[in-house]
Amino acid sequence: MAQQTDPRLLSILKDLVHIDLDAITVYDAVLKRITVPQLEQALMEFRSDHLLHVQQLNDRIERLGGEREPPRPSVESCERHGFTPVREGMSIEELLTVMVEGEQITNQTYEWVLKEDWDPETRALLDRNFADEQRHLLWVLMASRTRIWARQGPAPSAP
Ligand SMILES: [Fe+2]
Repeated sequence: MAQQTDPRLLSILKDLVHIDLDAITVYDAVLKRITVPQLEQALMEFRSDHLLHVQQLNDRIERLGGEREPPRPSVESCERHGFTPVREGMSIEELLTVMVEGEQITNQTYEWVLKEDWDPETRALLDRNFADEQRHLLWVLMASRTRIWARQGPAPSAP
């Protein structure tokens, strides 16, 4: 049965769905322009994490008595939340900088959201998602700083 939940908290969860959707929009734009297998593989995995976040946050919103947010990515939402737009002709370095900045936004948002007073199940979900975001940020930072696309041999696997 749905629980009674503070509408402000539901609204925060809905905004969070949009942050994860924005991240997916950025991943899609970057993945269209990257053809380096070791980057593609990791970014596809991270994109899947964001998709799962959207699904599970919506499940949680429903469980808490709210309505699911439609999973519609939107460029306008990305801009509103400060994600750097992906432009034609960007180099791999620039695309990875976009990824780093995007993961910084998702990390800061989860960090901020976790300061609220959540029920244990919602907190556990947010903690898991935040751990994913920290892992994504560390990996894209590593990939950017070590220029893994320019290296020979097997790439470090996505964590
Ligand atoms: Fe992420």
